[in-house]
Order: sequence, then structure tokens, then C-alpha cells
Amino acid sequence: MGYKKLIATPHINNLFPDNNPEKLLHSFYQIAQETNRSRFEVKLGIAAEYMLDSGFEKHLLARNLLTLDDRIVLIEFPTFQAPPNIEEVLFELQLAGYKPMLAHPERYSFFHSDLTKYEKLKELGCLFQLNLLSLAPNQNDHVRNSASKLLNCDWYEYVGTDIHSPDQLKYLSKIKLRHSFSNNELL
Ligand SMILES: [Fe+2]
Repeated sequence: MGYKKLIATPHINNLFPDNNPEKLLHSFYQIAQETNRSRFEVKLGIAAEYMLDSGFEKHLLARNLLTLDDRIVLIEFPTFQAPPNIEEVLFELQLAGYKPMLAHPERYSFFHSDLTKYEKLKELGCLFQLNLLSLAPNQNDHVRNSASKLLNCDWYEYVGTDIHSPDQLKYLSKIKLRHSFSNNELL
């Protein structure tokens, strides 16, 4: 499919308390060793997708967040509501030298009817990452429409695949995105 670099972003949240940077880095090196042995030609990288739940503060205080290039931290919200302290969290992240990036903003139903809520996050310095699978034909219409609106506003800086299992590749391979991203990065 033409990918030259893959960056894994495993979940770090209260449901996976054992997922911490040390353990994930150890697993990642094991995968890298296996892929080197098989002459896998794609570069690998590791970051994480941090849920802004009650456990996030301790990760932030430890200042050891797993980031994408340029100290970008991928964050996500709980399914049914944005964290009430989101402004404070975005501020604290930036104060600590991180660049927050919200994963799949198009997926949050509590934002769908009001574009200004997205605009507010952009004003607070939050980058957005589109999930390519949000554009798949089997996806909910509200999510697809929201992704189209955000693309039209040019508010996405990054793209992720959201691949969680091999059978999702069949959807990913059918997605055509006619949109140029200023940083030309696909993650
Ligand atoms: Fe997510």
C-alpha cells in the first residue's frame, strides 16, 4: 500500500494499567528485532494514544510521555463526553513542552452539532489527527460527515490509519483522500 514508516500508538488508559512506557518500549524492541530478521522494509516507530481519564495526570507529572516526532502527544477523549478540564490539560501539556494532538475528533458525537467546539480546541493549540477509517463506507454517517467538515476547514494536521486488526486493511485500501496536508505526513 506504499507506507514507508509505521508508528504504533498503543492505548494508554485506565483499562490497560500495565501499558506504561517501559513495558511498551520493551515490546517494541522485540517487534523491531523480529522485523529486522525478516528484512521488513518499513521503518517502525512507537508513540502512544493517551486517554484523558483519571490516570493521565500521573503520566503527565512523570514527564515521560511517549510522543510522535516533535514532542507531539496523541490524546483521546472518553466516548461520551469531553473531559471537563480539557483547557487546563491542554495548557499543562504545552507548558511541559508537548504538542497535544487529538485523535479522531470526527468521532465525538458531543461535538458533531457545533463546529465552534472544534474551533475552540484549535485556538487552544490542539492539533487534530484524522482516522482514515472514519471515511470508510461501513462507518457511521455522522462520523463521515464530521470528518468531511473538518477536512473542508483544513483543521487536520495528521492522518492515522486506526488499524486494530488485519481484517480492517480491506477498508483502508479502498479509501481515497484527495486532500493535501501541509506537513505531508501520514502516521
Ligand atoms: Fe482512539
